[in-house]
Amino acid sequence: MRFAVFGNPVAHSRSPEIHQAFAAQRGEQIDYQRILSPLEDFAGCVKSFLADGGVGANVTLPFKEQAWQLCDSLSERARHAGAVNTLALQGGKLFGDNTDGVGLVTDIRDNLRWPLRDQHILILGAGGAVRGVLGPLLAEQPAQVRIANRTAEKARDLSLMFAGRGVPVFGGGFDKLAGPYDLIINAVSAGLDGSMPELPASIVGRQTRCYDMIYGDTPFLRWAKQQGAAAAADGLGMLIEQAAESFALWHGWRPDTASVIADLRKT
Ligand code: ATR
Repeated sequence: MRFAVFGNPVAHSRSPEIHQAFAAQRGEQIDYQRILSPLEDFAGCVKSFLADGGVGANVTLPFKEQAWQLCDSLSERARHAGAVNTLALQGGKLFGDNTDGVGLVTDIRDNLRWPLRDQHILILGAGGAVRGVLGPLLAEQPAQVRIANRTAEKARDLSLMFAGRGVPVFGGGFDKLAGPYDLIINAVSAGLDGSMPELPASIVGRQTRCYDMIYGDTPFLRWAKQQGAAAAADGLGMLIEQAAESFALWHGWRPDTASVIADLRKT
C-alpha cells in the first residue's frame, strides 16, 4: 500500500514525517512519498501512482481544485469546498475528501481551546484555502464571519456561496473594517513571501486572538503581537489535524496528534 503527497513544489512538505509519526504510534511503518507532479499533468501523475499500488494521497498547492474534478465521488464537505486535499482508492474508485476545515476547527477549538461559538470572526483572504475551511467553521456557529480580501469581489462571492447556514457571512475589501474582532484567521498566501496587506490596527483589540493558517513565525502573527493581540497561533496544529483526518480515512483509526504537534514544534 503506497501513500503520497502531490504538490508543486512539494519538497517542503512535512506530510511524510507526520504520517510516519502517526504509523509509529502502532509500531508500523508506511510507504508515504512526496510526489512532484508536473503542473500540466496532475491527472496523469495520479493515474500512474494508482497503477503502481497507490491507495491514498494528500494533495497540496496548486492541485486541490484539479483533484476535486478528478474524483469519482466526494464527501459533502469536499463538494462544498470545491477542493480536495485527500484522495482514497475505494473499490477501484477515487474518493475525495477535504480535511482542511476540520483540521482548522479541531486545532482552534480543541488544541488551543479558543471559543468559536458566538464569536465575531474575521477571515483575511478569499482563495481556495478559505473556501476549503468555511463550511466546518460556520458549523461551529460563530456570531458572524466577515471575509476581507484584496479583491473584494472574491470575498463577496464567497460570502454568497456560504450564505443560508444560520450564520451571517459578509464579504468585502480590507478598507472599512470595523473591529475589534474576537478571532482573526489569516489565509492570505502573501505571508509566504514575507509580505502582508495593509490592515487597519482597529481590527485587533486586547481580547482578539489571531491564527495564521501558514506555520512558522509569520508576518501576520508578528503584526498581531505588535497590535497587542490576546493570543497568536500558527497553522502547525491545523496541518497535523488535517493529516490525522486523512490518516483515519485510510487506516481506520485516528492517531494521537498532541505528541506529534509537540515533536514537530521542537524541530
Ligand atoms: P490559497 O489556496 O492559499 O487560498 P489562492 O486561491 O491563490 O491560494 O488565494 C490566495 C489569497 O491570497 C487570495 O485571497 C489573494 O488575494 P486576491 O484574491 O486579491 O488575489 C491573497 N493574496 C495573494 N497575494 C497577496 C498580496 N500581495 N496582497 C494581498 N493579498 C494577497
